[in-house]
Amino acid sequence: MSEFKTSILCIGAGYVGGPTMAVIAKNCPDIKVTVSDINQTRIDAWNSDELPIYEPGLDEVVREARGRNLFFTTDIDGEIPKSDIIFVSVNTPTKTFGRGAGKAADLQFWEKVARNIKDHAVKDTIVVEKSTLPVRTAEAISRILHSGPSDVHFEVLSNPEFLAEGTAVHDLENPDRVLIGGGEDERGQAAIQALVEVYAAWVPREQILTTNVWSAELSKLTANAFLAQRISSINAISALCEATEADVDEVARAIGSDSRIGPKFLRSSVGFGGSCFKKDILNLVYLCEHYGLDEVAAYWEQVVHMNEYQMSRFVEKVVTGSFNTIVGKRLALFGFAFKANTGDTRESPAITVTRRLLNERASVVITDPKAIPEAKHDLADVIDQVEFCEDPYEAAVGAHAICVMTEWDLYKDLDYQRIFDSMMKPASIYDGRNILDHAALAEIGFNVYPIGKRALVNE
Ligand code: NAD
Ligand code: UGA
Repeated sequence: MSEFKTSILCIGAGYVGGPTMAVIAKNCPDIKVTVSDINQTRIDAWNSDELPIYEPGLDEVVREARGRNLFFTTDIDGEIPKSDIIFVSVNTPTKTFGRGAGKAADLQFWEKVARNIKDHAVKDTIVVEKSTLPVRTAEAISRILHSGPSDVHFEVLSNPEFLAEGTAVHDLENPDRVLIGGGEDERGQAAIQALVEVYAAWVPREQILTTNVWSAELSKLTANAFLAQRISSINAISALCEATEADVDEVARAIGSDSRIGPKFLRSSVGFGGSCFKKDILNLVYLCEHYGLDEVAAYWEQVVHMNEYQMSRFVEKVVTGSFNTIVGKRLALFGFAFKANTGDTRESPAITVTRRLLNERASVVITDPKAIPEAKHDLADVIDQVEFCEDPYEAAVGAHAICVMTEWDLYKDLDYQRIFDSMMKPASIYDGRNILDHAALAEIGFNVYPIGKRALVNE
């Protein structure tokens, strides 16, 4: 007899599976939580002192629960039959081939996992969609799970994850809401209740929303689309600010003070990155097209176009500000992660910007406190054209310009006089995150090019 009241298995030990399960294990010591993956290196890292992802606070949570009721393994087939609830949080990237290439979600990993669960489960099991999936995927998954001769019954729930990287542990411990979608019949409702009980260990019940399964699936894509839309909206306005001498931060504050609009997600930037915004919006666009809703598809696709425009505008600004040529000029990129407090570089605007600068034959040096290994991987095909350097002071020596790509706090507190003295003149800063003190930099002698604000040009 197991000492635990419930056994949870999670298949997929990535950015979502690892932290989510660690927080469940921490808050539910009476539940056995096993996290599994096909990637042995990842699992070894989860079992070591050097976790495979960087998230503030994650080390402590894992250390508290690991070996007590939190386990990491590659033995997926062995764990499936022992589990009451199986979360699946494998990756769902954009398809790169065949029908829907460039937009639709690639569900091959999900289908593989579903077939694996079907082959090894020996008792009725709740299967939870933790990955972000197209609306109505649960229907297909359920058909796969119930195909062939077997008496085992599976209830498929949708429980999308809303954590943001860099604040994953905080978001999981204090979620705005937990969303659980399931079947409307008795079995579906019982499965929903079983999952509600897990989260209720630390999330107030009024914040646990239950819906039908399609609403839950669609709400995840919609939430990401709305968040990205806000960034594209303020970035669109940043272009107009630059043309009219309005200041985008002042505009953001003015509109964000309206309680109907609210202040969050109005930071103008070089563009949004991350593994999900673009992928999920394109998936939404594909779904709309599939249902013949072409105007709706075009509406959402514009959010992605605006993001690409913003990155192009940034590179244009660097070239124009450098007397229309950056050939052979040393440009120091401050930051490569797609946002601060993570080593993740997936879809980072820094990737696009670096490649465009290299196209213009600039000499690029990249510095970042966490993301240099990932940056080397992303730029493997042009690695001989890029320099990497842990120390931002060193990166800036002999540079014509600094491009701030990630809003790391450490870049706010550098000694910019020392940096200025070590650079070529005229020395410029292109602040793609509007995090620096622009007036102070101009005072030192820099030419300063923020986003959505007047440039401060000395020479
Ligand atoms: P990830 O790439 O970090 O992790 C996915 C893991 O799944 C990998 O370790 C991979 O080895 C494993 N995997 C793939 N196929 C497998 C199989 N057949 N069996 C076992 N393991 C397998 O991805 P992620 O960032 O954790 O995202 C996972 C899902 O969660 C995606 O659908 C994503 O859209 C969604 N999501 C991500 C975030 C985020 O912040 N990264 C937030 C919310 C939702
Ligand atoms: C985002 C959502 O915020 C999460 O709710 C969601 O779960 C997740 O996607 C997902 O589905 O993967 P994440 O991508 O980790 O989380 O990070 P965000 O904080 O949303 O930032 C995304 C990008 O937008 C970053 O490049 C960030 O720098 C940029 N951003 C964000 C801005 O340019 N301006 C802002 O005001 C906010």
